[in-house]
Amino acid sequence: MLNQNTGMNKNHKKISQGPPSVTGPVFYCEDVSVEFNEIRALKNIQLTIERGEIIFVTGASGAGKTTLLKLLSGLQEPTSGKIIRPGFFSGKKNLYVSNVFQDLRLMGKYTCEENLMFSFDSSIYKDKAEFIQDMHELTRILGIKDRLHLKINQANGGLQQKVAIIRSLLTRPDILIADEPTSSLDTENARRLFEVFNLYNAKRGLTVIWATHNKELCKSFTGRIIHLDNGRLVYSGHACFI
Ligand SMILES: Nc1ncnc2c1ncn2[C@@H]1O[C@H](COP(=O)(O)OP(=O)(O)OP(=O)(O)O)[C@@H](O)[C@H]1O
Ligand SMILES: [Mg+2]
Repeated sequence: MLNQNTGMNKNHKKISQGPPSVTGPVFYCEDVSVEFNEIRALKNIQLTIERGEIIFVTGASGAGKTTLLKLLSGLQEPTSGKIIRPGFFSGKKNLYVSNVFQDLRLMGKYTCEENLMFSFDSSIYKDKAEFIQDMHELTRILGIKDRLHLKINQANGGLQQKVAIIRSLLTRPDILIADEPTSSLDTENARRLFEVFNLYNAKRGLTVIWATHNKELCKSFTGRIIHLDNGRLVYSGHACFI
């Protein structure tokens, strides 16, 4: 089950050196709607996401991005329609989903490094040295190695977002669902983050689902845009054609 505070899955038990054997769609939504009292946050969503895809969920504030991400993570159930998620693939190995929430959910009294160290799970890594090697690689690529001693409470929004993303990647997920992970980052830093997603996509078959306001930023990356407008999915396709 997903831990709603950290986005980590307590049943995550695997020594994973590469993608697991699940193939085909990782999410399938058929005519899905989500309503909160009078508000229809998502309207008749028809969507298939394949394993290994990089997806940008775009749309204005209130368009339904967070609701769609929560739906995919299993934190929100549809009011009507049908959704099939990875854990529901009968007879096949489950996929592990890690979430980076809009409010990040880091531990403010602890340092950036301590927040990352909490991700260590001996059932995923051969040993601690392997985990630390991954941690060093990610903190180096994202340029935060010299600020790991800072407490989260003293860190700026950009540093916090990077720590939250690295913490998630250190759990070696099959699917990363990130809600606005670049809202406090400038274009150069957002680009670096995307390079990390690309690296993990190539190395481990990571599926990335990334919500953002910044449609322009997505256009310079390879991936599929899913654009929401007032709860409706109005575009699904390559970023260049939107
Ligand atoms: N738990 C809830 N209760 C009532 N209304 C909700 C709830 N969650 C979302 N909504 C409403 O559903 C609609 C979609 O919200 P959502 O948070 O998914 O949008 P968003 O695209 O993520 O917006 P933002 O870019 O501001 O994060 C909004 O009108 C919002 O007010
Ligand atoms: Mg949102």
